[in-house]
Amino acid sequence: MRTDIDSLIGRSARLDVGDIDFGAFRHRPLDDDTLRCLRYMHDVEGHTACYLRDLLVTRAHRDPQVTAFLACWCYEEHWHGEALGEVLRAHGQPAGADRLAAVRRHLPRRDALRPLAFTLASALTPHIVAVHMTWGAVNEWTTQAAYARLAAKADHPVLSELLRRIMRQEGRHIDFYALSARARLEASPAARRLTRFALRRYWAPVGSGVMPPVELAFLVTHLFGDVEGRASLARIDRHVGRLPGLAGMDLATTAVDGLLCDGLLCDGRREAGVEPGTSSRPISQPSQEEHRHAC
Ligand SMILES: [Fe+2]
Ligand SMILES: [Fe+2]
Repeated sequence: MRTDIDSLIGRSARLDVGDIDFGAFRHRPLDDDTLRCLRYMHDVEGHTACYLRDLLVTRAHRDPQVTAFLACWCYEEHWHGEALGEVLRAHGQPAGADRLAAVRRHLPRRDALRPLAFTLASALTPHIVAVHMTWGAVNEWTTQAAYARLAAKADHPVLSELLRRIMRQEGRHIDFYALSARARLEASPAARRLTRFALRRYWAPVGSGVMPPVELAFLVTHLFGDVEGRASLARIDRHVGRLPGLAGMDLATTAVDGLLCDGLLCDGRREAGVEPGTSSRPISQPSQEEHRHAC
């Protein structure tokens, strides 16, 4: 496994966008739904360093192979966010540091407690790293699937090429997380039990907890609410089910089913003239409490 992982880390690189024609978007702009998804993806890619903060307080930081990967992972995700930001800028929309600063200003108050929660969890169980590696694999599978669905729905040659390059790197992230997860899950029944429990109880699509619920619901409904999207979710569930101890969870399908009702709320807001997602936060977005009642 070491050689495989060393080779994955060795191929890490900044996303190459030197020959991507961002100016093409001025002549053939993307539709509003695609841009709304891109704003979400830009913000979540840009949040990776904050996810890293939570991971490094766990015993994951004691494994040099894991920390080498996380360093490369964070760097690559940063440049994914920057590339998506270029697409937004080509449409006259804000991106990059200013937008990310706004996202971080509006994080829920409980975000400040996450490092403490991760520290405590790590003190309580040595299997926290197995949970994290598996969680990472699931997140990378869903992220890659979301980019594939967005490319298919937007049907724009420049965006498709950009997303194809990002998906290739996401594929390497998948390989690392899945290899590491498999090794840890195979080694310990307790790790399998804890990971299954944690995913079932706490997993939600990437970006939940950072992005407003209405934006998550829109993205999920737009990308995974149709027949092709459902097939994509089933593929993710098959990947997860092949990891030791995780058969039959239907994690992605179940999570999306729980959000489709919220997707109806998104459409209703659009019909009511609310411009979604152009401000990274919330003047126009309901609180979580309002959101629950609306559904
Ligand atoms: Fe990424
Ligand atoms: Fe990734």
